[in-house]
Amino acid sequence: MEAQKDRLKDLISHAKEYGFVFPSSEIYDGLAATYDYGQMGAELKNNIKLYWWKSMVQLHENIVGLDSAIFMHPTTWKASGHVDAFNDPLIDNKDSKKRYRADVLLEDHIEKLRQKIEKEVEKGRKRFGESFDEVQFRVTNPNVLRNQEKIENIEKRMKNALEKNDLEGVRQLIIDLEIVCPISGSKNWTEVRQFNLMFSTELGSVAGDASTVYLRPETAQGIFVNFLNVQKSGRMKIPFGIAQIGKAFRNEIVARQFIFRMREFEQMEMQFFVRPGEEMKWYEFWKNLRTKWHKNLGLGDELYRFHDHLKLAHYANAACDIEFNFPMGFKELEGIHSRTDFDLKQHEQHSGRKLQFFDPELNQSYVPFVVETSVGLDRMFLAVLSAAYQEEQLEDNTTRVVLKIPPVLAPYKAAILPLVKKDGLPEKAKEIISSLQLEYNVQYDEKDSIGKRYRRQDAIGTPFSITVDHQTLEDNTVTIRDRDTMDQERITLDQLQNVIYQKASWTSVLGALVQ
Ligand code: GAP
Repeated sequence: MEAQKDRLKDLISHAKEYGFVFPSSEIYDGLAATYDYGQMGAELKNNIKLYWWKSMVQLHENIVGLDSAIFMHPTTWKASGHVDAFNDPLIDNKDSKKRYRADVLLEDHIEKLRQKIEKEVEKGRKRFGESFDEVQFRVTNPNVLRNQEKIENIEKRMKNALEKNDLEGVRQLIIDLEIVCPISGSKNWTEVRQFNLMFSTELGSVAGDASTVYLRPETAQGIFVNFLNVQKSGRMKIPFGIAQIGKAFRNEIVARQFIFRMREFEQMEMQFFVRPGEEMKWYEFWKNLRTKWHKNLGLGDELYRFHDHLKLAHYANAACDIEFNFPMGFKELEGIHSRTDFDLKQHEQHSGRKLQFFDPELNQSYVPFVVETSVGLDRMFLAVLSAAYQEEQLEDNTTRVVLKIPPVLAPYKAAILPLVKKDGLPEKAKEIISSLQLEYNVQYDEKDSIGKRYRRQDAIGTPFSITVDHQTLEDNTVTIRDRDTMDQERITLDQLQNVIYQKASWTSVLGALVQ
């Protein structure tokens, strides 16, 4: 746990030092749970957006994009259920005066039990060596079974209480499990209360209920209210999807853990409209494809796991999370939700407009069912950054900090470094920049020794460093250094484009996702 905390701390300070993420309005001591993306962060974030957009929109002929407004008619949020049901159950500790999400306290407790199980399995692995049968161990070891049973009981009680909105039941579970406040260490808890997460403001000069508008808590509703506009203007046939990237806002009470949980964040969402009755087939389809999308980045397959929702949102008939092993442990990265026809039907009722599709094959009109994929852009950013961040002990006993960001997402694809600042080397380096910059974001750096410059590029994740020396002037060759292996190779300028293309082009990463 301590090591995890340190890793997150190291990541936060590295992100700030190298221009990835800054606390918002820092000169005024910052604003809680709000962050700004710096010069490197903005590049990385844009590349993540592109990876998503290209694979979701460009690679699917039946998915199109949308960019809807953040403000929407207030009835939207009444219809979607957010005014009445977008709540978090909150509990305060009377001694520390700290406020917590009751469900998160319970989930953290469950995670601790899970970690106990994993420790037991590791002990078993060490004890039995080569002959260790993990599957058998998990179903026979008494400690594993006892903790597994505890987890199942807690999950059952928690699901029951949350589904029935039985807040006293949620509190009792916290008391029965003897969960203590991480700050005060006491079990002196208040009642559990529901708290709506939407930010509201007033439109124009009229005060009162009629002018209350909300900052959207999800981008999805902008897609639902435009369902017919897009379907008709784009002549879309079911099944089809509408994708959108944009800001969302939630008044998160427990907003901690850097950019993992923010009050202003970005979502990349896609609503896939299908025939009623076919939603589970598409739910499985999107679960698989989205997992493939994540793993395709090569951050490590073992960093992902699924988590089926115990308590379904008010709109869903099936839902799961793709979780990622962040520095704080496994947490939700993306949600896949089968949202039924809930949203479109609600909007039909509240607007009085029909939101239906005439299916020529069935010769009938219906309200489509929806399968949604929703990934947080900032969480994707944190996932990439945390998997990429490595401190390496080198053979000469020095250490280097390197960001092994997937090359296609790296802020710069290459750095062009003249060995010295004279003899025509800077001019030659700038010629090389001109030959690459239309295709790739590249950086020029002539300050400090070449070793220091390599370290700087490692720290911002640049996959290639290209050194221009006196020989370059004679035979048009350069040294190209690989960020990850630190191997250096002499190649001709003609080969340069191709070497970068092989590792850092969109083609190199999107190929595996073509359906
Ligand atoms: N439209 C469905 C929806 O909004 P969600 O599970 O509440 O579902 C989807 O959110 C994704 O948005 C999450 O998986 C997470 O990646 C991201 N997200 C949600 N709340 C967030 C927050 N406060 N800060 C950063 N990302 C958040």
